[in-house]
Amino acid sequence: MCAYVLNPHTEWLRSDAACVAQPLDMVEARLAEVVASEVNAASDVAFHLLEAGGKRVRPALVLLSAGAGGGNVCDPKVIDLAAAAELVHMGSLVHDDVVDETRERRGVPTASGKWGNKISVLGGDFLVAKAFLLLAAIGKPEVIEVLSSTAVRMTESEVLQAECEGDVHGWRANYWQIIKGKTAAFTAACCECGAILAEARPETRARLAAFGEDFGLAFQISDDLLDILGDSAETGKDVGTDLTQGKFTLPVLLALQHAAGPDQARLQSLLEPGFLSADQAREVLRIAVECGVTGMAREIALDYVENARASLGCLPYGIYTNALGTLAASVADRNA
Ligand code: IPE
Ligand code: IPE
Ligand code: MG
Ligand code: MG
Repeated sequence: MCAYVLNPHTEWLRSDAACVAQPLDMVEARLAEVVASEVNAASDVAFHLLEAGGKRVRPALVLLSAGAGGGNVCDPKVIDLAAAAELVHMGSLVHDDVVDETRERRGVPTASGKWGNKISVLGGDFLVAKAFLLLAAIGKPEVIEVLSSTAVRMTESEVLQAECEGDVHGWRANYWQIIKGKTAAFTAACCECGAILAEARPETRARLAAFGEDFGLAFQISDDLLDILGDSAETGKDVGTDLTQGKFTLPVLLALQHAAGPDQARLQSLLEPGFLSADQAREVLRIAVECGVTGMAREIALDYVENARASLGCLPYGIYTNALGTLAASVADRNA
């Protein structure tokens, strides 16, 4: 059974990462094994999110980078690293949904919606703890070092983001730092750690890490675009909540620079109070679309995709390197 395709909205990853379909299934089996717990509520939270699907982007990055670095993509340590990456990601999603007060994730109710914040915060901790248990058993100190420092950065960025909530000036000053820390540092670490387990040469490792960082920036910009332009039937999560939660992402920051005439003043007055109603969010979206900044944000995401692909440069081990390039190419146009 190919368990990782449970989410029907992940065709772009399935076809782009076809060369790691078999190890991705192994990762899926490993995930189901390691999140078992004698404490039912802990494994319930984990299985709820696991079985709902998800694109498995981070495990795919680990596996493809290990392959691109010359390693064996079915090596049990590589499989465990990929599973650990998904566990860290899932933990961050469970926590993120508490913080963002969202109701839907991967097409099902969020853990916080189903079990409340207390169980969700602890369930998220359980997922991250399980990840580090897997990482410890891999026995590569460099991998633990890279992923621990990344987990610190992710947490710091979530804190910074929470501090900026409702503060457009804070977002203007910190947007890039926030998305680098919460998303790009992690995708970079997935690629770098895949390369470490492959015993790749330092230059290959650095190129894969650089690829992962630019991939993550493009990925988060497109996530921010999906929040304002996407369809929750396709993304499987709430849309339109960034503005109601006071998160002013790239399209909005660009609209502040590019809106003209009465729209400029109107936009300022809509954003200044910090938290928007659904109707006000729709008005911001209209202004953003009319002044062309949603297209501009997509172009910026595409620039990062190009940078990511350039980092792959003349890396050896064709099929995996090619698959990374193809995966990156579809990031800016994904709809889920
Ligand atoms: C969502 O990540 C969080 C971000 C960093 C944007 P994904 O879009 O990869 O979520 P899943 O794993 O497919 O559910
Ligand atoms: C990414 O930011 C969150 C994490 C890194 C966990 P978002 O808050 O935009 O992610 P979504 O949109 O809820 O998936
Ligand atoms: Mg969120
Ligand atoms: Mg988002």
